Amino acid sequence: MNCLTVAMGKGRIANQAIALLEEAGILFSDFTNKSRKLIFMDDSNSIKLIFVKAVDVPTYVERGAADIGVIGKDVLLEDPKDVYELLDLVIGKCKLSVAGYPETKLNELTQLTVASKYPKIAKLHFEQKGIRTNIIELNGSVELAPLIGLADCIVDIVETGTTLEENGLVVIEDVAEVSARLIVNKASFAIKTDRIQKFIADVKTGLEVYS
Ligand code: PRP
Repeated sequence: MNCLTVAMGKGRIANQAIALLEEAGILFSDFTNKSRKLIFMDDSNSIKLIFVKAVDVPTYVERGAADIGVIGKDVLLEDPKDVYELLDLVIGKCKLSVAGYPETKLNELTQLTVASKYPKIAKLHFEQKGIRTNIIELNGSVELAPLIGLADCIVDIVETGTTLEENGLVVIEDVAEVSARLIVNKASFAIKTDRIQKFIADVKTGLEVYS
């Protein structure tokens, strides 16, 4: 039997997703988050888990290198791919927010300089509010940008709020709710319909226990 290939990024979401799959009866006894291995088979040898860089998950799924992917809605919003988004996994909940110094007034500047790992989301958000922006794309430690005068504000993920708080920044407004989603390759869904639907049904059962 051909196995189903599931792609996810390593880290917090992966640990929760694997716990969720366990509740669904899909066990990865070999998995440990300390391992540097990139491929794990489940105990029944029918699901292959591949670890890729999180932002690349939708690409693997769109190209059919993986049948299924687990990925944050933030990544799907920033760079939409031609895949089915079939299930909200509820794990990895956080928000995409505009943040900055408490005194920051977004409407008072003729052009707002915004630093973000999400340049398209940031641009669209302010466009919809009629605010002109100069977007600076960064790849991490985005909170630093307002602190050193690189940007007026940021658009970034806020989970616990600790990073903002420890750097004297606050949420100014929310942009979107984020959680992990299950995405599926379109051709795989057509060819392996029964297997993928069974997988999704199992995950839904796992979700009831897990959440
Ligand atoms: C993310 C995000 C924030 C932080 C938010 O960064 O970009 O910086 O987590 O989490 P908190 O609200 O719980 O503090 P990540 O840890 O991915 O690191 P990065 O700065 O390298 O992007």
